[in-house]
Amino acid sequence: MKFFVDTADTGEIKTLAEAGLIDGVTTNPSLIAKSGRPFAEVIAEICELTPGHVSAEVVATEYDTMVSEGRKLQKIAPNVAVKLPLTLDGLRACRTLADEDTAVNVTLCFSANQALLAAKAGATYISPFIGRLDDINVDGMELIEDIRTIYDNYMFETEILAASIRTPNHVKLSALAGADVATVPPNVLRGLINHPLTDKGLAAFLADAEKAGVKV
Ligand code: G3P
Repeated sequence: MKFFVDTADTGEIKTLAEAGLIDGVTTNPSLIAKSGRPFAEVIAEICELTPGHVSAEVVATEYDTMVSEGRKLQKIAPNVAVKLPLTLDGLRACRTLADEDTAVNVTLCFSANQALLAAKAGATYISPFIGRLDDINVDGMELIEDIRTIYDNYMFETEILAASIRTPNHVKLSALAGADVATVPPNVLRGLINHPLTDKGLAAFLADAEKAGVKV
């Protein structure tokens, strides 16, 4: 399973990339706004921090402007994946950009039928939003399982990118359900590392080493 980090915070991305923990990055307009920096500048910087795909989302809602924004984003760096919302115009723009060999991440997916349409439109990634479904008492994980079954039934190559991940358990369940990628906020990614028994065990080892005067 690939891990993308879901942030526009270049400091976090640098640290996590240096630890070899990430295979790419996803951003959205809210995350870019939070960075307080110009769109193209921050995407260009992120693209240099990872060789993997960096999702950059259009803000247009109509086909023509979505395609021209997508082409503009793609020119920033070869590893940009253009992120498009799951609307009719978004799917049309997906087909156009995919035919130009541009990687496309179709986002804001909340149903298996939407995911089926994105695959037919040539998406590189489909982003089902797990957390936001959980928020409305719908099982986000069931959606990942359904999409996995449908894509396998028809051998679609679109990768399932589990998004809106809020907890380490979401990461585990996405992996069990067969998601190809999980995009994870930095705090959740760091949370995957921690275990109280690791901390307790390490403290005991270090105390024993100090008592015995062990030096390396
Ligand atoms: O990956 C999509 C993500 O940025 C949305 O997450 O927590 O706002 O639903 P959230």
